[in-house]
Amino acid sequence: MPAQLTCFESSCRTRFSVTDVLYNCPNCGGLLEATYSGWEFDPEALKSLWRARRVSNLSLDQSGVWRYREVIAFLETFDSVVSLREGNTPQLPAPAAARYGGLDRLEFKHQGFNPTGSFKDNGMTCGVAQALRLGMRRVACVSTGNTSASMAAYASAAGIEPLIFIPHGNISYGKLAQALEYGARTFQVEANFDQILALVRVLAERLGIYLLNSINPFRIEGQKTIIVEMLDQRGWSVPDWIVLPGGNLGNTSAFGKALRELKQWGFIQKIPRLAVIQAEGAAPFYELFQASERHRLQPVGHPETLATAIKIGDPVSWPKALREVKESSGAVEKVSEQEIADAKAVIGKCGIGCEPASAATLAGIRKLTAGGVMRHDADVVAVLTGNLLKDPDYIYRYHTGQLDAPDGTRIQSSFANRPIVVPNDAEKIATLL
Ligand code: F0G
Repeated sequence: MPAQLTCFESSCRTRFSVTDVLYNCPNCGGLLEATYSGWEFDPEALKSLWRARRVSNLSLDQSGVWRYREVIAFLETFDSVVSLREGNTPQLPAPAAARYGGLDRLEFKHQGFNPTGSFKDNGMTCGVAQALRLGMRRVACVSTGNTSASMAAYASAAGIEPLIFIPHGNISYGKLAQALEYGARTFQVEANFDQILALVRVLAERLGIYLLNSINPFRIEGQKTIIVEMLDQRGWSVPDWIVLPGGNLGNTSAFGKALRELKQWGFIQKIPRLAVIQAEGAAPFYELFQASERHRLQPVGHPETLATAIKIGDPVSWPKALREVKESSGAVEKVSEQEIADAKAVIGKCGIGCEPASAATLAGIRKLTAGGVMRHDADVVAVLTGNLLKDPDYIYRYHTGQLDAPDGTRIQSSFANRPIVVPNDAEKIATLL
């Protein structure tokens, strides 16, 4: 089945070879996407095959990305695939979080169970496979932390060099530690994410380094499998809503593409509504979505949020994300630092836990149900994008009443769970209990 790179802009749609090293359309500057001509599988047969692959010992089948290789068919052979057994993430019911969010029921698809603790692994196995196929020896990304952790792991596992550029002092230590431990050459740049992305694009072009930010269309292909696996786990019953945090908007683009393709290819009959949640201090996509007369995203010059994973003011994938949210009759919401912090503690108390950006989902759901946009009896899946241990500093500060928002206001620790210092004395501890 032939794959191409196609310009995403409806007025252009120029096609390029899948082995061209391109991140934007050379004709119009638009974003690129992988497209497939002559896709002709029987959806019911594939659903059974994907199920059967779950008990296979083949590494391709054990991967929760490559198990679904028929819907990400951009490679001719699988020789270049390096898998750390990504994907395979659980869908967890969370009744207490549902109540907090104003819903009768809620399930979390927890991407924090991935090998490097975030959804980036779904896309990175594809991006690195493409890098190897192209004969690249070095890969680079700018990151708020998770992309760099993931790229470091997959590039090192593949035997190529990871080069990482991060905003100095603005990513959590958990993520920085991963990049160092996985052996990436790590540059802490004194600039914000958006500025560093421009810088890295120049360096990639000049030095022939392969860029693995989410502007890379092959990463988007991998992230599509989050949706495929979700639907597979639900026996192909389509939820009413899928809720996710929005930063650079790669994941929103991937989810929308997956859903459109699955419908077009006959796997599902309807498309769920996508709800994208941003942090108030970094919400350019929310503003764009509200202003129906505006056709271009207005970047936020100085994005601010403690949810550093989504601290992005100029998201590159906004044209794709806008189309996907509109086509799904979806919604975009923004939430405050306080709302994120409280929602995060509620998710933790369900025994599930996540990093701050992921908790924006539950905070957003609470707002959407209160505003009547989301019905209380809706069937909702929220995607938790990162693991709780990514940012322990935030957690400790919240539970000990020391968490300050970027503007200096103290976050109320509404669900504080303080550690208790006690003497080494059974008698005294027993009275406390
Ligand atoms: N949640 C987490 C935990 C993230 O790390 C990111 C993005 C997002 C949500 C937003 O996803 O960009 O696809 O809209 N992190 C990137 C990084 C930017 O560099 O790790 P998005």
